[in-house]
Amino acid sequence: MSTDGSISMETEVVKLDPLNPNPAIIKKAAEIIRSGGLVAFPTETVYGLGANAYDPQAALRIFKAKGRPTDNPLIVHIAEKEQLFQVAQEIPETALEVAEILWPGPLTLILKKTERVPYETTGKLDTVAVRMPAHPVALQLIKESGVPIAAPSANRSGRPSPTSASHVVEDLQGEVEMILDAGDTFFGLESTVIDLTKEKPILYRPGPLAPEDLERYLGPVLVPEVARGTAYAEKAMAPGMKYKHYAPTKRLILVEKKGDLPEVVRRLSLKYKVAVLCSTEMLRILENEAVCRIQLGSESNLYEIAKNLFAAFRALDHSYCDIGVMQSFPERGIGLAIMNRARKASGMSIIANPQDMINLF
Ligand code: TXA
Ligand code: MG
Repeated sequence: MSTDGSISMETEVVKLDPLNPNPAIIKKAAEIIRSGGLVAFPTETVYGLGANAYDPQAALRIFKAKGRPTDNPLIVHIAEKEQLFQVAQEIPETALEVAEILWPGPLTLILKKTERVPYETTGKLDTVAVRMPAHPVALQLIKESGVPIAAPSANRSGRPSPTSASHVVEDLQGEVEMILDAGDTFFGLESTVIDLTKEKPILYRPGPLAPEDLERYLGPVLVPEVARGTAYAEKAMAPGMKYKHYAPTKRLILVEKKGDLPEVVRRLSLKYKVAVLCSTEMLRILENEAVCRIQLGSESNLYEIAKNLFAAFRALDHSYCDIGVMQSFPERGIGLAIMNRARKASGMSIIANPQDMINLF
């Protein structure tokens, strides 16, 4: 039974080669999409929960399966450049240029929508989020379906995004017809979302492509507080950003200054069973602490930290600990996206100074 008491469906989980997917499996998945069903599939960022972007009923099924508020719009995934003109109009020249260079890739552009895209897909907005994912399975599925695929991340709303098929099974078993399992996703964090409908480009969600990467093509990009994860957005700005996101079920504390981590861990250990989410370098410093260790990777490679982040949030929930403490990382490159996700996952439980901890507990 699902949460609303209805009988849940049978979910078929199918393994396939990420670089050379079996065409028969892709064909079967595409038939499900065309007939209004749901297929979870890998992209280079995270797994997506896909449906025909032109079918309002199918889009509504996505919201239901995720438990997602219907005013939080979906990203429309395309596989060919011509499809951009089917879903978006009045496309600025800069958008075409940036798409030419950075697609397929982890970049989502907000543009004015065409009539073909129903309001169910865009959360009643006149704009549409579009991206061309750089994953063979995603591209072949879209091509074979013959329609653009609307897909949010394939997690229950508010939970960390899935970076492996097992995360999708954990959250959506019985809610979708098929899950395509092609192993771990590459970046592990969702795409960079940028609005190109305003006078100047605005970054809504940082991702694998940093603002400095985009500025080379787009000129100055506005980076509002919501993009850093230090504030929640008003609906008018970026609908999805007002909701709590990416959160483990257990409490997560973010320590602003790396050097404060050992002291914060020591203090919390007096009262709680603590799990530490940190770099391999930091683990060496914490060698003698009696804590649960959840490794994020080396500080010298922020891509590795990004790739492991959401699995680490899930590992915290599966651990015997009551509370997680996470280290901060520099906000350059993909680090901006790491810190955005970490701040939101902590629900703004951020320790700027160990002396202030008294206010948090
Ligand atoms: O990497 C990704 O982007 C993944 C994979 C599956 O492609 N998808 C993903 O989708 O992260 P989702 O729905 O979890 O996040 C999309 C974000 C949401 O915060 C949503 O509010 C925002 O993009 N968004 C979508 N359409 C929008 C629009 N028209 N205006 C402003 N924000 C929009
Ligand atoms: Mg999401």
